[in-house]
Amino acid sequence: MAETKKIYFYPIWLRIWHGVNALGIILLIITGISLQSGSVDPLIEFNSAINLHNISGIIVTISYLIFILGNLFTNNKKFYVIKPKGFLKRPMKQAIFYTWGMFKGENAPYPLSEKRKFNPLQKYFYVIVMYLAVPMIIITGIGLFFPEIIIEKIYHLNGIFVTAVLHSAMGFFISIFLLIHIYVSSIGKSPIDNFKSILTGWHHIKK
Ligand code: HEM
Repeated sequence: MAETKKIYFYPIWLRIWHGVNALGIILLIITGISLQSGSVDPLIEFNSAINLHNISGIIVTISYLIFILGNLFTNNKKFYVIKPKGFLKRPMKQAIFYTWGMFKGENAPYPLSEKRKFNPLQKYFYVIVMYLAVPMIIITGIGLFFPEIIIEKIYHLNGIFVTAVLHSAMGFFISIFLLIHIYVSSIGKSPIDNFKSILTGWHHIKK
C-alpha cells in the first residue's frame, strides 16, 4: 500500500465558512426552485419560501465576508492565483485525465502537495464561482431585496428584469457547479476521503 502524508489544508475559519456556505446555498437552491414555480403547487409555501430564501441569502452573504477576509489575511489566497503559463494547456490536461486517463488507471497529472492544494481545473472553477458567480448573486440579490436601488432602464430593458435574470442565471450556474463539485470531490484516495478532509482539515496525499 502506498505511504501517505497528512497536510493541514483546511483551517478552522475555512471549514466554518464552507459548512455555513454549503448549507446556505442548498437552502437557497431549494427555496429558489420553489419560488420559480410561483403559486402553482409550490414545493414550499410561497411566503415561507421567500422568508427562508432571504434569511439564507443574508447568511451566505455574511459567510462570504469570512471567505474574503480569510483569504485576504492568510496564505490561502495563493491557491487562487492563476498564472498565465499553461493557461489553457494545464486545465485541459486535467480535463482529459478526468474524462479519460482516470478510467485507465493513469496517475493524476497535477498531484496535490503543500504548494498545490487545487489541480488547475479545480482552481479555475473555484475562482469563477467564488470571485464571479457568488459576488454576482449576492449583488443582484441585494438589488432584488431593495428594488428601489436598481436603475430603472438598462438600455431599453427593465432594470429589475435584468437583475432577476442575472440572479437566476447565477443560481443555475452555482447549482450545476455544486453537482460537479460533489462528484469531483468523491474522486480521491477513497470516495469519502475529500469529504473527511473538509470536516477535519487534514488531507492525505501519496508520499
Ligand atoms: C453539500 C455541499 C458541498 C460539499 C459536500 C462540498 C465538498 C467539498 C470538499 C470535499 C472540499 C475539499 C476538497 C476540494 O478542495 O475539492 C470542498 C472545498 C471547497 N468547496 Fe465545497 N462542498 C459543498 C458546497 C460548496 C459550495 C456551495 C461552494 C461554493 C459556492 C463550495 C466551494 C468550495 C471551495 C471554494 C472549496 C475550496 C476551499 C479552499 O480550500 O480554499 N462548496 N468542498
